[in-house]
Amino acid sequence: YNVPRAINEPVKSYAPGSPEREQVLKTYKELYNSTVDIPLFIGDEEIKTGDTKRLFPPFDHQHNLGQYHQADKPLVEKAISSALKAREKWATMPWEHRAAIFLKAAELLAGPYRAKINAATMIAQGKTVHQAEIDSACEFIDFLRFNVQFMTEIYAQQPVSSEGIWNRLEHRPLEGFVYAVTPFNFTAIAGNLPSCVALMGNVVVWKPSATQVYSANVIMEVFQKAGLPKGVINMVNGDSAMITDTLLESPDFAGIHFTGSTGVFNSMWAKIGQNISKYKTYPRIVGETGGKDFVWAHPSSNPIEVATALSRGAFEYQGQKCSAASRAYIPASIWGPVKERVVADIKSFKMGSPEDTSNFVSAVITEASFDKLAKAIDDAKASSEAEVIVGGGYDKLKGWFIEPTIIVTTNPKYDTMSTELFGPVLTIYVYEDAKWEESLKLVDETSIYALTGAIFSQDRYAIDFAAKALVNAAGNFYINDKPTGAVVGQQPFGGARASGTNDKAGSILNLLRWVSPRTIKETF
Ligand code: ALA
Repeated sequence: YNVPRAINEPVKSYAPGSPEREQVLKTYKELYNSTVDIPLFIGDEEIKTGDTKRLFPPFDHQHNLGQYHQADKPLVEKAISSALKAREKWATMPWEHRAAIFLKAAELLAGPYRAKINAATMIAQGKTVHQAEIDSACEFIDFLRFNVQFMTEIYAQQPVSSEGIWNRLEHRPLEGFVYAVTPFNFTAIAGNLPSCVALMGNVVVWKPSATQVYSANVIMEVFQKAGLPKGVINMVNGDSAMITDTLLESPDFAGIHFTGSTGVFNSMWAKIGQNISKYKTYPRIVGETGGKDFVWAHPSSNPIEVATALSRGAFEYQGQKCSAASRAYIPASIWGPVKERVVADIKSFKMGSPEDTSNFVSAVITEASFDKLAKAIDDAKASSEAEVIVGGGYDKLKGWFIEPTIIVTTNPKYDTMSTELFGPVLTIYVYEDAKWEESLKLVDETSIYALTGAIFSQDRYAIDFAAKALVNAAGNFYINDKPTGAVVGQQPFGGARASGTNDKAGSILNLLRWVSPRTIKETF
């Protein structure tokens, strides 16, 4: 198959004086000082229901960014019928046309839309310009480009034929529509979940996170500019439970592509189970859920590398990456230098609005998240088993600000060693060097989730031992590196246990879930 060779989009520096920095800050100001009125995208209509929710940045909750409109049940049903109507042409359209649309979207994001998608992500989700760049520009572009390559690799999967017989596989789209549910924390994931499904010839009803609708609207603009036919991806917002119930009750429900919390995914799975006999076809269930990702260091590891992995892996984007380090196991012999360095790093982090590019962190996404994190910090301050060694402050007057915080615990099973917090709070357990093998058992036993994990060691036997001891504790396993920052096409991403179905985003394995092959035997 002749498609443009996929390459990872280079990350721009946004250094002072660079044109990209000027452009993104100008766009940021323009967006910040104007308001949007975001409709529902259903079939060929953009619908404003008048039932609206206010939009605001997490770092300035009184600021008005405009509003988005919410769907009622009949409109969600209309999204299903619009998707199915669009399917009549889309599912049989030659793949080159589908590919061309999403490749064009990639070029729009790499060029004219780069500043807008990054500025929207900075404003709506509270990302620094660098975090926005690696997400909403580079990772999103990479998904769009690599998915086209993965699609052709799937189409190339063909059986053998023989004299007078031609066997072939027709990689059909699923029969029905797919429900895409996307999170707040990555604009790239919000863009990829509906688009990779659509690329394979499917039609989609997409519900972005309520806290990401602002940038989701820019994604829809890009897809439309790229020529995506109306009705292929329908964006609905509103009451999550009503939307989910309506979609999962439809006989045409053919799959769910989900990234979000474990609890929500579990309830959706249960509903799918209840409705299973209603469906025309067994639906595909693909989900990436929670994480409680670890960093484990062996006594042979380099303390500076470990400290850097902690300060970057745990606190970039306020720890709100599903891959973020949130618990660490450090041997006593290197704890002194690790502590000194990581505390110094954290004290140097500035916190505030992303518009000031010297800020390293900003607010967390919602008040509910803020309250959960503040409570964990208060509990640690009051506990005899824990000590807050840096950070520990919080303030929600203007935005949902939680200081980057480290809790050190004497109990390896302390609550925040296994409970997901999804924010800038890292819990560390310091273990006795001689017990390093046992400490790995502790890591595995508390790995209810199994998304990412990192080990540090200069000793190859220890690396081998740890890799075996933690074989099921992480779907993305890093040796001597932080557990965040998987790159599309390089580190396929996803985990098992309570972290999801491990259908590896950014790889052919994920796209395989969105086809239903027909085997054809033709005899001459
Ligand atoms: N792909 C994102 C990361 O690895 C989630 O950090």
